[in-house]
Amino acid sequence: MNKLFFLLFGLILLSAGCADKAVISPDQDTPVLPDEPYAYHEVKLPSGTNMGGNVFFDDLDITGAPVNNTRLDITPWGATLGRVLFYDKNLSLNNTISCASCHHQDKAFSDGQQFSTGFQGRITPRNSMAIINPITQNNLFWDSRSRTISDLSLKPVQNHIEMGMENLDLLVTKLEEIPYYKPLFKKAFNSEYVTKERISSALSQFIGSITTSRSRFDQSSVSGFSNFSELEKLGMNLFNSDKAKCASCHGGGNMAAQDGPNDPYGGGGAFNSSGVITDLRGATNIGLDLVYRDNGLGDGRFRIPSLRNIELTAPYMHDGRFKTLDEVLDHYTSGIKPHKHLDVKFTDGHGNLKMLNLNDLEKKAIIAFLRTLTDKEMTTDPKYSNPFKP
Ligand code: HEC
Ligand code: HEC
Repeated sequence: MNKLFFLLFGLILLSAGCADKAVISPDQDTPVLPDEPYAYHEVKLPSGTNMGGNVFFDDLDITGAPVNNTRLDITPWGATLGRVLFYDKNLSLNNTISCASCHHQDKAFSDGQQFSTGFQGRITPRNSMAIINPITQNNLFWDSRSRTISDLSLKPVQNHIEMGMENLDLLVTKLEEIPYYKPLFKKAFNSEYVTKERISSALSQFIGSITTSRSRFDQSSVSGFSNFSELEKLGMNLFNSDKAKCASCHGGGNMAAQDGPNDPYGGGGAFNSSGVITDLRGATNIGLDLVYRDNGLGDGRFRIPSLRNIELTAPYMHDGRFKTLDEVLDHYTSGIKPHKHLDVKFTDGHGNLKMLNLNDLEKKAIIAFLRTLTDKEMTTDPKYSNPFKP
């Protein structure tokens, strides 16, 4: 009896001891940063995405209106600290995973895997997402569960699959012990104190600064697309046409959809008894399955993702089921399943399935157009790169 008591007591002590001791990675170098920070505060967005000028908020309601007027201000040193945090494996419980493990700059911050490997070799249930002008989106993640990057920023750190750092106080203590953080917090926030709020703010500032607006499409739009090939022009016209319908969902400057009544997608609104919008989502069901293993935000609906940089972000869909853009186009012309919540755009008006009618040349043209959305400047910009590299 006594022995058992001591054994249990010992075990409790041992686990308590582990719980407040965060081991810092021994092989993490000091980040190499420029003396003058990059101009992260100059947020450059493509036209058609920049609804409220360059003013961004911490919290939004379903209509996209700011909730408490708390602004997300990006400062050069705040985002610099965010960049270090984004690439630092010390943010995971066992020092093996950083945000960048699943978000690679050269792939527009996706990772090329169907599912990603997180903390302790655990596998994410969904495909890692590219980071495409997230500061302009009010529906983040595949199921739109976060409205702002401030809400999103610490979720991956705490996620038991992704980084395992469920106890954020532990993260604070850990960062306090790493020598390169104190000066960085001082520059970013005018004081050395590490807090959860500041970690979240710095990460949000860095993610918010990640923008793509310098693709060939953006550059050519100024000159009326005169340098587009015939195939690319055909693809662009089809993309915006009733025949292919792409832009009716993947619309606006981000070729994406938002939640709320002001979105060009404008699909599937619902009001509660007091007339308040409860469900006006930039998300829909495109008939990938008859029975969904993952129902997204309900009824097999998933956020309508941005098609910017799509050439770099294979494999595709929430579960990375398609390896190529050809497979995606084949889905829209011959693979759509008649799910009962299938988007009406893929029915004939009497509820019967109607897939897109596109021939091989038209599909090729659409893919050629999608490739003009690739922004190489973003994927090589040093201000988004890994500061821990020698
Ligand atoms: C183990 C892999 C993994 C790690 C580590 C990881 N992510 Fe992600 N990330 C994902 C996956 C998978 C999704 C999609 C999740 C979903 O929709 O449920 C995602 C989604 C996102 C999105 C949403 C993009 C959008 O447009 O909606 C952002 C932003 C993001 N992650 C930032 C981060 C940050 C910041 C960190 C570090 C604090 C991080 N991620 C760490 C895998 C990862
Ligand atoms: C009815 C709305 C709708 C239409 C029309 C539509 N899409 Fe989509 N698209 C979606 C949704 C929703 C997803 C995400 C589905 C999922 O992952 O479950 C998606 C996903 C994609 C993806 C994969 C994105 C990624 O990051 O993995 C590509 C590429 C794509 N669509 C291209 C197109 C093209 C090209 C057209 C026109 C031929 C088109 N879509 C028409 C709603 C639509």
